[in-house]
Amino acid sequence: MIELRDVVYCRLGTTDLAGAEWYAVNILGLEVAERRKGAVYFKSDARAHTLCYFEGDPTDQMTAFEIGTAQDLHTAGATLEALGHDVYYGTRAECEARMVREFIRFRDPTGNVIEFVLRPETTGLDYHGSRNAGITGFSHVGLCSSDLARDEHFWTSVCNARVSDRIGDAPLMRLGTIHHSIALFPFHRAGIQHINHQVGSTDDIQRSFHFVRENQVNITFGPGAHPTSSAEFLYFTGPEGMTFEYSTGVREIHDEPAWRDRQFHFEPKGFCHWGSAPQIAAFKK
Ligand SMILES: [Fe+2]
Repeated sequence: MIELRDVVYCRLGTTDLAGAEWYAVNILGLEVAERRKGAVYFKSDARAHTLCYFEGDPTDQMTAFEIGTAQDLHTAGATLEALGHDVYYGTRAECEARMVREFIRFRDPTGNVIEFVLRPETTGLDYHGSRNAGITGFSHVGLCSSDLARDEHFWTSVCNARVSDRIGDAPLMRLGTIHHSIALFPFHRAGIQHINHQVGSTDDIQRSFHFVRENQVNITFGPGAHPTSSAEFLYFTGPEGMTFEYSTGVREIHDEPAWRDRQFHFEPKGFCHWGSAPQIAAFKK
């Protein structure tokens, strides 16, 4: 079993790096951690970075998860290779570009590019966004899935993810105590389906709802409340069509042995109990 600690960053290719930076800072509310040739790194919490935009193909998207030890990372590589995945071992320069000590890269069964990383850097310092979005940190990622049952099996049997709840057949899976760090949604191509940042309160959700609307950002879902995780949320569109989400009040599961995954109706009741309807393809039948 591959023991993943947490989701740690996303890397997104863009044909307009300056535009992506403008959006990440002025709309999303992240802090520029560092600019390097062809890439900008963003902070959303104490970690050195949780998002990187780089000059490249917008379909080039990676999600990274932390593994605890070098031995565990190498064992994970061998496990994946034995299952038929091509495993790439990152070079020193590529590790430097990710602010990690070591990493491996492979594709999950849908074809999502996944990186397992060792010792991602933290700053130990708070993040300060220039726009007060109330962000408390990068929290979870939605991944596209061309076969939900197959991919759930990969994340829960090969890796240590546990299903907290399902919306239809879409599993919301935890790695630690947070209700979900990975969610899978049905879609016909591989890629990141949405990127979630937690915010401090309902006030932050409501202020951002008005802020993004006034800035002509396309709101795709919300404000609403998820009956699964109890989180209040807002989904909106970012550069290259990426869906970003703010949410607050996500459920934590501390009594691990006692939790039983629950079944929710796919659409729209399972996604929102305030009555908002998603304008997001992967959330619709
Ligand atoms: Fe989400």
